[in-house]
Amino acid sequence: MLIRVKKTSDPAAGDITPESVYVNRRQFIAAAGAALGTVVIGDVKAGDAPAPFDVSPGYRVQVRPGYQKLGPTDTVTIPFSVFAYNNFAEFGPEKGDPAANSGNFNPRPWKIAVDGLCAKPGTLDLDDFLKPHTFEDRIYRLRCTETWSIVVPWVGISLAAALKRFEPLGSAKFVRFETVLRPAEMPGQKTSALVWPYVEGLRLDEAMHPLSMLAVGMYGQVLTNQNGAPIRLVVPWKYGFKSAKSIVRISFTEVQPTTSWNLRIPNEYGFWANVNPNVDHARWSQANERRLGEFMRRPTLMYNGYADEVASMYAGMDLVKNF
Ligand code: MTE
Repeated sequence: MLIRVKKTSDPAAGDITPESVYVNRRQFIAAAGAALGTVVIGDVKAGDAPAPFDVSPGYRVQVRPGYQKLGPTDTVTIPFSVFAYNNFAEFGPEKGDPAANSGNFNPRPWKIAVDGLCAKPGTLDLDDFLKPHTFEDRIYRLRCTETWSIVVPWVGISLAAALKRFEPLGSAKFVRFETVLRPAEMPGQKTSALVWPYVEGLRLDEAMHPLSMLAVGMYGQVLTNQNGAPIRLVVPWKYGFKSAKSIVRISFTEVQPTTSWNLRIPNEYGFWANVNPNVDHARWSQANERRLGEFMRRPTLMYNGYADEVASMYAGMDLVKNF
C-alpha cells in the first residue's frame, strides 16, 4: 500500500471523471495490459499499472481491475445521475434528499463490528478492516425494485475475502448487515419510515459469491455520503434494496435475518429479491426498466444479467414464492 497525504489540489469526491474519459481510460488500460501479455479478468487485462485511489484522506491504495463485463447495450451511467438520484431513507424519502441532507454525516472515523457465529469476532477500525485486501474496480449494473437502473464503476473489496478473515462457523447460514444508527446526522431516522437501523441479509453462499462486494468508492473516488459512505454492500443480481449502505455491523447467523423492507411491507419486498423480469412487484411489472440518462425503457434481464454466474445457487427454488 502506498501511503501519502492528500493534497488540497487533489480532486474532491464531486470532481468526477466524465463518463467518456473514464471509459476511454479503461480501454487504454485494457490495451496496455494486452500489450504486456497479462492475465484476463472479465474482459479487461490485469497486470497494468494500478490506478490510484484515495480510500480516505491520507491513504492511497492500489486498485486492480475486477469484474468488468458489460452487455452490448450497457454504458456507464453519468456520475451526476448516480450522485443526485438516490434511495437512502435515512436522509429522506425523495430521490434528491440523500444528496441534499447528508452534508452533516461523518463517514470518518468509522468502525465495523463482525460478530455472531464466527471464530474470530471483532470490532475494527475501517482502515484495519480494509488493509489486508486488494481493491478492485468492478463495473456492475444496479437495478432498483422501483424499475430504474444504473451502471456503476465501483471500487471495493471481495465480500467473501472480508468475511473469511473472521472464520464463519459451520452453523452460520446467513449474514446480516446493519447500517449505522445516527438520528442526529440522519434526519430520516427521526421518522418512522422504517424500523431503524436499516438491516439487510444474504444467505451465506450468496455473501461468499465472487460477485458480492463491499464498495468504498465509485468512479475512482471515495463513496459520497448519499451513495453509502464509507462502506456499502453491492450485490448486483439482486434488487438495489439488498445493497445496504453505511454498514457498521456484519453478523453471521443461523436463522434468516429479519430485514427492513421485508418487515415494513412483506408482500412487496421479499428476502431473496433476485432481479426477475417474470415475477412482478405487488404494484408494478418488473419486465422492463429505465436506465438513468436513457429515454427508452429496456427489458430487464434475469438476475440482472448475471444468470450465468448466479442461477445455480437457486436451482430448484420456487422463484415466485421466494421473491
Ligand atoms: N441502504 C440504507 N441504509 N438505506 C436505504 O434506504 N436504499 C436501498 C439501497 N441501500 C437504502 C440502502 C435502495 S432501495 C437502493 S435502490 C440502493 O441503496 C440505491 O443505491 P444508490 O442510491 O447508491 O444508487
